[in-house]
Amino acid sequence: MKPAFIFGTRPEIIKLVPVIRAFEKRGLKPLLIHTGQHYDYEMSKVFLEELELRGINYHLEVGSGTQAYQTGIAMIKIEEVLMKEDPDVTLVQGDTNTVLAGALASVKLKIPVAHVEAGLRSFDRTMPEEINRILADHASEVLFAPTEEARKNLEREGIIEGVYVVGNTIVDAVFQNSEIAERKSKILEKFGLKPKEYAVLTAHRAENTDSAENLKKLVEIIESLPIPVVYPVHPRTEKRLKDLGLWERLKAKDHVILTKPLGYLDFLKLQKNAKIVLTDSGGIQEESIILSVPCLTLRYNTERPETIKAGGNVLVGLEKERVIHYVERLLNDEEFYSRMANAENPFGDGRSGERMVDILLSLYEKGELRVKS
Ligand code: UD1
Ligand code: UDP
Repeated sequence: MKPAFIFGTRPEIIKLVPVIRAFEKRGLKPLLIHTGQHYDYEMSKVFLEELELRGINYHLEVGSGTQAYQTGIAMIKIEEVLMKEDPDVTLVQGDTNTVLAGALASVKLKIPVAHVEAGLRSFDRTMPEEINRILADHASEVLFAPTEEARKNLEREGIIEGVYVVGNTIVDAVFQNSEIAERKSKILEKFGLKPKEYAVLTAHRAENTDSAENLKKLVEIIESLPIPVVYPVHPRTEKRLKDLGLWERLKAKDHVILTKPLGYLDFLKLQKNAKIVLTDSGGIQEESIILSVPCLTLRYNTERPETIKAGGNVLVGLEKERVIHYVERLLNDEEFYSRMANAENPFGDGRSGERMVDILLSLYEKGELRVKS
């Protein structure tokens, strides 16, 4: 079988490496296509190096642009590669423009798509990611839902066949890398931090960065945090903070450590040893419950409701009073803290990648890995 992986951003690399490794273990060498949606060293190459993902077959250098431009160029370039290589299946992960472009280009060439992390829904169609998820799921033949909740979302949209609940490969990634991170990363020393005496924050969602009003609210929250905070800034947010004159304001605060985006090993170590995580990231909501660190999500909805139900995550939005209330409660109420920290990981046992490969190989052997008429 000839599988092809299509990816282009930081989280896709992190979450697909376990699946690529599972193929390699079975003696298969998948085709690797990097769209170049993320291109800065800190957003892409550092992950290829740390996770030892060598031998990318195609670098498509799509780069940044509007939603349609980025998706359109990616589609054209992916189609060219798929026509030449004719793989038996393409694998895409998540909800980025790369995923939508990859899924559409592939299914229209009658190459079946396997969607890793299928069935997530925020039920907020103003998010570009929600549109990407829905369309990618409907273009896919094989849907790897991480949880029963995700499976139910697909069922509600009439997608029943080809759905497999396999857990989320973020657990595989955390299990495979957290020991290495603990050993190799010197990030706490670099910033002069002690375990459990600081918070980590990330923010890059369009709704939080494109709107000046929301970005100002975010800055006010960070300024008011009653605990030192490390903030690795996504390039999208860095540009907006600088344009709006907010970068210097944050930099001037003694309790705020602003840094470039970190490599995976540094970020995992930082996250694991943090007292609290504040984020609008999808993957970080998942990782914090796996790492037993309470998470406050700086959004009004989430496509990871399992983390809320389990009790490890609270949607705090961008209202300063609400965010600070929860931070203080976590700092002062030990019972509340330990309840959040001990929430059970709902994303599986770290063998999701292996399961996906078993399923794909078995479908292939039975002649069932194809776009159905
Ligand atoms: C994308 C995904 C988002 C995912 C995130 C992971 C879409 C619609 N969004 O958001 O779901 O959570 O990746 O981090 O696909 N930029 C750089 N250097 C880079 C990459 C981006 O400077 O290497 C800047 C550019 O100004 C660019 C902006 O960031 O315009 C946004 O990048 P883009 O890939 O469009 O979206 P993300 O916000 O990264
Ligand atoms: N991450 C990282 N360095 C950082 C910030 C995040 O390695 O400075 C990792 C994080 O551990 C997680 C993934 O990137 O696995 C999340 O990516 P992001 O927040 O960009 O995207 P999302 O998950 O929201 O799509």
